[in-house]
Order: sequence, then structure tokens, then C-alpha cells
Amino acid sequence: MSLASSHMDRMYRSQRHIYDASRKFYLLGRDGLVRELQPADGAKVLEIGCGTARNLVVAAKVYPRAQFYGVDISAQMLDTARKSIAAEGLESRINVAVADACDVRPAELFNVAKFDRIFISYALSMIDSWEDVLAHAMDLLGPNGSLHIVDFGDFSGLPPWFGKAMKTWLAAFSVTPRDDFEPAFATLASRRGTSVRVMKPFRAYAFHAVAVVPGKGPSWQNPSVSQSVN
Ligand SMILES: C[S@@+](CC[C@H](N)C(=O)[O-])C[C@H]1O[C@@H](n2cnc3c(N)ncnc32)[C@H](O)[C@@H]1O
Repeated sequence: MSLASSHMDRMYRSQRHIYDASRKFYLLGRDGLVRELQPADGAKVLEIGCGTARNLVVAAKVYPRAQFYGVDISAQMLDTARKSIAAEGLESRINVAVADACDVRPAELFNVAKFDRIFISYALSMIDSWEDVLAHAMDLLGPNGSLHIVDFGDFSGLPPWFGKAMKTWLAAFSVTPRDDFEPAFATLASRRGTSVRVMKPFRAYAFHAVAVVPGKGPSWQNPSVSQSVN
């Protein structure tokens, strides 16, 4: 077990039982991200840092003809995830496995080489080498694939005292908002000829980013989709 995985297991051992009920108040933008995915029938969708599988369960219900996969470094979180998936009868459509986000090997884990959609929800802010995770995720996308990310923003549209208090509070949970996300994302994407869009909903409480592999444009290019981020 790596240092990172034992740290996450320690943090979530008790938290996981109240995770979904408590986080819905402050992990904003997750359902908007799910609505934006719009995978085609038969598409393969991966969540990196899937935690309790809250998002995967929502997405599997919205898109009944897509196949879902999730990875997380915490075996404790995945224990809760498997119970949630089974409670919804979704075992045949959602497959989860322990993996470090920096080194996901889907061919070994799921017998899948590339994904049509990959999403990362409030995990980059917990991973020190988050730029490596982004690069790796982009490399796991197939043709016309897209990468969708939601995480804490820089709080620039909110009163300064609020941003400062949030950052202090989040630090207690090993969470660091990635204020330098946008330039890093743009650089990684341009190296791959990938187009990107970054939005800052909820007065920059969150950021919501999309990268699309060249090809026929997916529906996030429709403004009504890109703006629905709550
Ligand atoms: C704040 S939770 C978000 C969970 C879920 N994505 C959601 O939106 O509810 C962050 C998750 O990232 C996982 N995580 C942290 N570091 C990781 C890493 N290096 N590789 C994979 N998962 C990691 C944690 O175990 C945790 O489940």
C-alpha cells in the first residue's frame, strides 16, 4: 500500500459513511458535469477518483446504454462504492478498481484500452501531481473523446475573506484548489491538438473544464450544455 493510498484510507475510513449526504452541499457542479457527458450508446466512460461512486451511479441512470468504470486510490472508498452500485443493481454497468490516478492501466483493470469520456470530480485538488493525472487522462481518450473536470475554483468572484476561509478549511482535508489549473490545462491540451474550454461557475467557487480530442464535436459545444453546470 502506498503512502497516498493509506493517507486517503485513513481520511475516509469514517467519512465515507456520511460522504454523499454531507458533500452535496459544497461539491458544486457535479450534476452539471454528468449532464454534459452525453456519451453515445455503447460508449465507455471512466471516472478518475470516483470515491463512493456517487457520480457514476447518477451517470449510469442518466445514460442507460453506456458502460461505466471508476478508479480510486482508497480501497475504503471503493468498498462503499461497491455497496452503492449493488444497492442500485448496477453491477453489470459500473466496474470499479483501486488505482493511482497517475498510473491507471485500464487494459489490466477493465480490459479497455481507451475511453470515450473521462471525468474527474473534486479529485485533482487532492493529488499533488495533478498535472501528471491530466496528461495521463488525455492519453487515455479515444478518437472524439472528451475529458471533463470539475473542482474548487479560485473563489475570485466571492468576497476575499470567504476565499481565504475556504482555503484554510479545505487544507485541513488535504485539499488545495488548483489556482494555476487553466494555463497548465491549456498547455497540455495544445501539445495534443486538443481544444479546451474552462468555465468558472458559482462566482468562481468551482471551475469546470472540458478538453475534446479532434474530430466530430460533441455536445458540450452547444452553449446551453456548457452553461448548465449546477
Ligand atoms: C473529494 S473525493 C471526490 C469523490 C468523487 N469524485 C465525487 O465527486 O464525489 C476525492 C477522491 O479522490 C481520491 N484520490 C485521492 N488521491 C488519489 C489518487 N492519487 N489516485 C486516485 N484517487 C485518488 C480519494 O480517495 C477520494 O475518493
